[in-house]
This record gives sequence, structure tokens and C-alpha cells, in this order.
Amino acid sequence: MARPSGLSRSSVSPVSSAVFVSFVVNGQKMSLPVHPMRRLLDVLREDCGLTGTKEGCGEGECGACTVLVDGAPVNSCLVPAAHAAGTRVTTIEGLHGRHPLQRAFVEHGGAQCGICTPGMILAAVALGTHPTLDQMKTGLAGNLCRCTGYSAIYRSIESTNERRRNRGDRRDRKGHRS
Ligand code: FES
Ligand code: FES
Repeated sequence: MARPSGLSRSSVSPVSSAVFVSFVVNGQKMSLPVHPMRRLLDVLREDCGLTGTKEGCGEGECGACTVLVDGAPVNSCLVPAAHAAGTRVTTIEGLHGRHPLQRAFVEHGGAQCGICTPGMILAAVALGTHPTLDQMKTGLAGNLCRCTGYSAIYRSIESTNERRRNRGDRRDRKGHRS
């Protein structure tokens, strides 16, 4: 079977059965000695110190641990570290607190206790710009929230849609004037 490109068996670490797994996390190249079956969630939280990624159920049911792997949302509690080799991983820290969705979740009550929020925002990022309500419901179906009843989350995402539309309108108007 083909070995993931970022996984090197030749570099055996002192930790028994560990191999060096290389991947890019939030734009930074990393090469870590880990057991290939160690959960990506644990590698991110414990080895990389990126504790923004949360653990809820630990069995793929709640979406609290969602990160983006090559732009697609995955439950990091289900992904063995070896499967992340050679990929680009984005955690909530990778948005640097400056993504429009982060502000919108605060302004519209999409974040309450906050446990689901990092995963919810990353799943929302993966929806792209201007998702419809149906696309939001489908795209976030794997992310559970006990606090908001979901409407505040949909409102938060919709508000970023609206902001983008308004910015586009302003640009169009300026274009007409010049
Ligand atoms: S902690 Fe990963 S899906 Fe719940
Ligand atoms: S804000 Fe509390 S679980 Fe979603």
C-alpha cells in the first residue's frame, strides 16, 4: 500500500512504534514523532499545543473536534495521525481571530458556552461564501450545539453573507460612478 507522503518510517523516534509524521498546520510545517494511530485531535492539542480544537464525544458524533484537512471538515477524533501526513490542517487558531465568521458568531449569539464553536466555525468556513440555509443545515448537520438552538448560528453565517453582499453592492456602485 502506498505510504502517505509525509510519513517517514526511516526516522524512527525514541518513542516505541512512533514514526515522524510531517504535515502543515496553520501554514507551519511540522514533523512530529507520533504513533501512527494516535488521534489527530491529540496530536493537535497535546503535541502542537493547539487547544482550540475541542473534544466532545470522542467518537465522531458531535463535531466539536472538527478541523479542516486540505480544506475539508473532518472529525479529528477519528483521524489517525498517519492519515494527516502530507496534508494541510487548519485549526481555529489558523483563523487568527480575524475571520468574519468569528466576529459574526460573537455579535449574533452563535457562540454561547463555546464548546461547539471552533468546530462549528471551521465547518462553516468549509461552506464557502453565500451558503443557503439548506446548505448550512446540511453542512453543519454533524456539528451538535446544546446551547443556541442553531438559529443564532445560521443567523451568524447569514450576517457574513449579507456583509459580503453589501460590500459587493458598494463596489458595484463605485464601479458605475467611475
Ligand atoms: S469529539 Fe470528535 S466528533 Fe465528538
Ligand atoms: S454554544 Fe454551547 S454547545 Fe454550542
